[in-house]
Amino acid sequence: MELIPQGDPGLKSQPLAGAQDQRELAALLSACFPVPEKASFFDDFPVWDERWKTPMVRLGLRAADGSLAAAAGVRFCDLRNGPGWDRMAIIGCVATAAAHRGRGLASRLVSELIERSRNEGARAVLLFGNDSGLYSRLGFAPVGRQARLPLETLALPLPGPGIRISRGWNEAIFDLMRQRGSGLRLLEADLGWLSAHRNSEWWWIGTEAEPLAYACVGRGIDLQGFVHEWGGQRAPLLTLLGALARGRPGLQLLGSPVELRARGLLEVEPLPEPACLCLPLVKGFEWMHDTWLWGLDGA
Ligand SMILES: CC(C)(COP(=O)(O)OP(=O)(O)OC[C@H]1O[C@@H](n2cnc3c(N)ncnc32)[C@H](O)[C@@H]1OP(=O)(O)O)[C@@H](O)C(=O)NCCC(=O)NCCS
Repeated sequence: MELIPQGDPGLKSQPLAGAQDQRELAALLSACFPVPEKASFFDDFPVWDERWKTPMVRLGLRAADGSLAAAAGVRFCDLRNGPGWDRMAIIGCVATAAAHRGRGLASRLVSELIERSRNEGARAVLLFGNDSGLYSRLGFAPVGRQARLPLETLALPLPGPGIRISRGWNEAIFDLMRQRGSGLRLLEADLGWLSAHRNSEWWWIGTEAEPLAYACVGRGIDLQGFVHEWGGQRAPLLTLLGALARGRPGLQLLGSPVELRARGLLEVEPLPEPACLCLPLVKGFEWMHDTWLWGLDGA
């Protein structure tokens, strides 16, 4: 394999689109992340799978032999931030093949995606990752607050007789999710990729046509052991969480301290833990105290 020279000025990124690029991207991502054999990164992060047609750009850098050496993507969406919505760019699927690491390829792709985000009118770029040199050098800093609460430590009711708790994705959950007061704005077009998470476990209470509350556990290689999407009416939600706490000891509830407090679930101040990394693109951009990204909003 021929290595890409450090800082090669002739190296140009290329958009990754079409079936062949999609296969190569899936192979690179599945090799770089702890994806089980025969599974795909897209099983857990379908938002980056081009078949769902989310507004996004995926870029790649190729070695001289044509193999895909590095990739990164950005998607564009609206985030509830204070009283209004802010146009945001979310970077994800950042990966460099092991042989090409440490030569600045990921930094280069992320820098290019930041420029594209600026041109698209995003007010800030977000990403989920370690607060490492790679991202801090580009100007990313931690923002927001998140709390993780072991379910067994919460005073949750147990489902009474006749209360049905159901498991499995149900499209009516999507309607409930669209009513949430925080996180990314969900559009009709988001139903495809949201429904396609193969390793997320959905639970709900109520009827199939009208779930009253929902909770989602895990996301395959990410968010294992967390209830990271939850919502609906308070009383059924607490009952649903109570049933999960009983059936699955060790689960933790992940959420915004503001949301948790509003539902009476947070009694003590949580340990300070940022929600994500953020690079503001416009002067005066501010991450509001109650701004939050739900588990599947992240990439
Ligand atoms: C993270 C990764 C994309 C870096 O690719 P790269 O082309 O080697 O990156 P660059 O050469 O531009 O930058 C190297 C920096 O990335 C840092 N880095 C390594 N792994 C990292 C990680 N998981 N998250 C963030 N930064 C990481 C290195 O410490 C190095 O920092 P330093 O220069 O301060 O020592 C690559 O190591 C990889 O594919 N890892 C597995 C997949 C992954 O974790 N992706 C990132 C998810 S946010």
